[in-house]
Amino acid sequence: MNKLDTNLVVNSFTEAGFELIDQPSRAGIVLVNTCSVRNHAEERVLSLLGHLKHIKKSQPEIIVAVFGCMAQRLKDNLLSHEAVNIVCGPLQIPELVNLVNKAFENKLKQSMVSSNIRSKPSPQQLQKLDDFELFYDSAENNLPAQAFVRVMHGCDKFCSYCVVPYVRGPEVSRSPEKIITQIKKLAEAGMKQITLLGQTVNSYHYTQNGKEFSFADLLYEASKVNGIEWIKFVTCYPKNFDERIFQAMADSPKVCRYLHIPAQSGSDRILKAMNRHYACAEYLDLLRKAREIVSDVAIAGDFIVGFPGETEEDFQKSVELVKKAQYKNCFIFKYSPRPGTGADDRFTDDVPMEVKKQRNIKLLAVQEKISEKLNKSFIGKIVKVLVEGISKKAHLDGSGKEEYPQLMGRTSGDYIVVFNGLASLAGEFVNVKIRRTSALTLFGEIT
Ligand code: 5AD
Ligand code: SF4
Repeated sequence: MNKLDTNLVVNSFTEAGFELIDQPSRAGIVLVNTCSVRNHAEERVLSLLGHLKHIKKSQPEIIVAVFGCMAQRLKDNLLSHEAVNIVCGPLQIPELVNLVNKAFENKLKQSMVSSNIRSKPSPQQLQKLDDFELFYDSAENNLPAQAFVRVMHGCDKFCSYCVVPYVRGPEVSRSPEKIITQIKKLAEAGMKQITLLGQTVNSYHYTQNGKEFSFADLLYEASKVNGIEWIKFVTCYPKNFDERIFQAMADSPKVCRYLHIPAQSGSDRILKAMNRHYACAEYLDLLRKAREIVSDVAIAGDFIVGFPGETEEDFQKSVELVKKAQYKNCFIFKYSPRPGTGADDRFTDDVPMEVKKQRNIKLLAVQEKISEKLNKSFIGKIVKVLVEGISKKAHLDGSGKEEYPQLMGRTSGDYIVVFNGLASLAGEFVNVKIRRTSALTLFGEIT
């Protein structure tokens, strides 16, 4: 979602006549998008601001605008930072160009954030966000032939560790008409894959003229858009999962065989303290149903280790769940207390950092074995890949035609594939025969 917000903001600035450069010291304006989900992400922004403060000593005319979740969370505290000129919340990004233009004129510090983030945005504000997204979600600054489309704002789930409901506001679904118009526009601009975004996309629902429109309905509608060949979506919440979503995946070959369904913990006691509203057995049942209906689906998960009160026994339950779930891959995070959240109010962050680190390493190792095994099953098979571009990491696989650069792309199940080919294939679909695999990557050659 931050990538989408960055693209929208950058495109709104270039449309207004600004030029994008990548060196802060040569810039007239520095735009900083931010994340508040863990303390580490915020620390990185604060260290960047320290660096900018230094640059501004010799170039005081540089305007620094901080936007996104951290802007909404810290508000005037962030504005009082010496380096910062503008603070702008995630729901105010359509105003950012105006704020910067004003700062050029009056040189004053300005902030624009939601005063009560949990009150529903006004219809005018939502209209502005819709228009902003429709207008600036262009082919620029994305991976070739790929774009993100937001289907909903905010979150109402209040998982006890999570800051999102307090920085992105209440859950609001966008109208299906607007979403489909946006997808059609992107298809006309040459996009082949769209990724539908929401904190909990499976909670998407929109009522129009007395008719309920669900996320499954949206998948069927998006599948009808000519030119769009692949539809991905992130992310899902495991409770109240509408199984028609699985059916839509099975019915439409355009909907990718990938589900990201975070479990967060394998211990029912911890899940309760996390306010997740499901037990481990229910979660596993959901994965079983998904695989029953979409036989070739690849499932990814998220886990938090070291949540307050997590004992070794609780952690072992997460290990067991990772083994049972057979994820394609798993994102694992060390619990980071976020001020203002339920967990931070009610519990002490009592698992030592060293224990969190060890649990993180152990859980990753368990997952790595599973990923290795799943990846091996691809050897000798031909997979369809949407090429993203030249691989950032140089992989020595020795099998390819070395005169071509090493490219990377992803399958419908979101498996990463590396192969040699012409750089001009970025944004195209190719078939790749898999020769070799590692825990993270499939290697092969274009057939
Ligand atoms: N500490 C650690 N991880 C967190 N996540 C969300 N909040 C926290 C936190 N306070 C993780 C969850 C979520 C992912 C995006 O980030 O696993 O699914
Ligand atoms: Fe945070 Fe939970 Fe909402 Fe996900 S569902 S954004 S973890 S509150």
